[in-house]
Amino acid sequence: MDLTIKRTPFLRGEFSPPGDKSISHRAAIFAALADGTSEISNFLEAGDCLSTLRCLQALGVEIEGPREGKLKIRAQGPEGLKEPEDVLDAGNSGTTMRFLLGVLAAQPFYSVITGDHSLRRRPMARVAEPLRQMGAHIWGREGGNLAPLSIKGGNLRPIEYNLPVASAQVKSALLLAGLHTEGETVVREPVPARDHTERMLEYCGVKIKKEDLEITIYGRQRIQPFKICIPGDFSAAAFFLVAACIHPRAEVVVRNVGLNPTRTGLLTVLQEMGAELEVIQEGVSAGEPYGVVRARSSSLKGTKIGGALIPRLIDEIPVLAVAAAVAQGSTVIRDAAELKVKESDRITTLAVELRKMGAKIETLPDGMVLEGGSLKGAVVDSHGDHRLAMALAVAGLIAEGETVIRGAECMSISYPGFLADLEALTK
Ligand code: S3P
Repeated sequence: MDLTIKRTPFLRGEFSPPGDKSISHRAAIFAALADGTSEISNFLEAGDCLSTLRCLQALGVEIEGPREGKLKIRAQGPEGLKEPEDVLDAGNSGTTMRFLLGVLAAQPFYSVITGDHSLRRRPMARVAEPLRQMGAHIWGREGGNLAPLSIKGGNLRPIEYNLPVASAQVKSALLLAGLHTEGETVVREPVPARDHTERMLEYCGVKIKKEDLEITIYGRQRIQPFKICIPGDFSAAAFFLVAACIHPRAEVVVRNVGLNPTRTGLLTVLQEMGAELEVIQEGVSAGEPYGVVRARSSSLKGTKIGGALIPRLIDEIPVLAVAAAVAQGSTVIRDAAELKVKESDRITTLAVELRKMGAKIETLPDGMVLEGGSLKGAVVDSHGDHRLAMALAVAGLIAEGETVIRGAECMSISYPGFLADLEALTK
């Protein structure tokens, strides 16, 4: 689908972003391992999370919904899962594939998991390797690194593992596998990645120990069925927060948005760039803080981003690059080589597409340097990457002339209501 975006005279209003994608995946997977029926509300009904639900159903889990974000999942503990009749399809979703590898590693049966063109090029050895050390058998293309992957699990032993990259998906897969061992599994992170898994484990009655960068999970614990209302997705809200900051006539209020500090690095950076933001935490739901963020037209200046901040905003770098492309001065993004193995190689695709709109970007092996200026409309391509597509749409809102985004349908992978929310803010 080609989407045409025109510069809009203003951006004004309030909205609630859809349910958090990371937390939706976790809620569905944890519920599928619980002893009983769990109830989830504000579940993200988007491509990636629907892939998770389909895989769980193929593993014999009973799912009612989702209907208007509500979901009931009936499960009988990890023993209730059954060998799937066919290949499991994780679609575009890295979270689905990596989490399910952690789950399947503990199952005595044989399964095969694959995904779309983008997911089949993303590295899985980072999960498969430690799971093999725990005793699982995992085969795949390129020496067991690329999907399709076949798994035969069962009888896992605990490990102590130092994660080579800060990845919440790998951390979570190992914690889920560790839950099914006899003993203590210890995972150490180089810098903190998002901690939704740890928060949800505790919420479901699973005992873990968190010390700085080290997480210990005690094996053979059961997951209690739970009720959860998922907060809004900060990564979805991010598109409109940045749009409001860079638009000359804008004021946007985002309600019911998740404010987990391992996710909100973008707020820190925007504030550093001079953004006019107001953040109010209103409560905590299932261990996750949420609240309101207000953003308005700001004069942004360039900044330097790197180190421990990167995992806290890794998914926001596409839209942050748009902000940097129109900020005053230069912005340097380092320590972000992980961008290369996201839904697209985001260092390359961001540079290629934003350059078409007049942005000045130099790529680095682990990031990019952007020189602020102005943007003009162009015909750009999403490369099938949902966050790139929405970042380009934000660029189109302030660019001179018309922007056409090719392959814009991929927005529905994480934010099917993006265009409706955008329309409401421009009316
Ligand atoms: C996610 C973790 C991050 C993030 C992805 C979702 C999660 O990936 O980029 O969109 O839900 O745990 P990594 O674990 O590869 O860093």
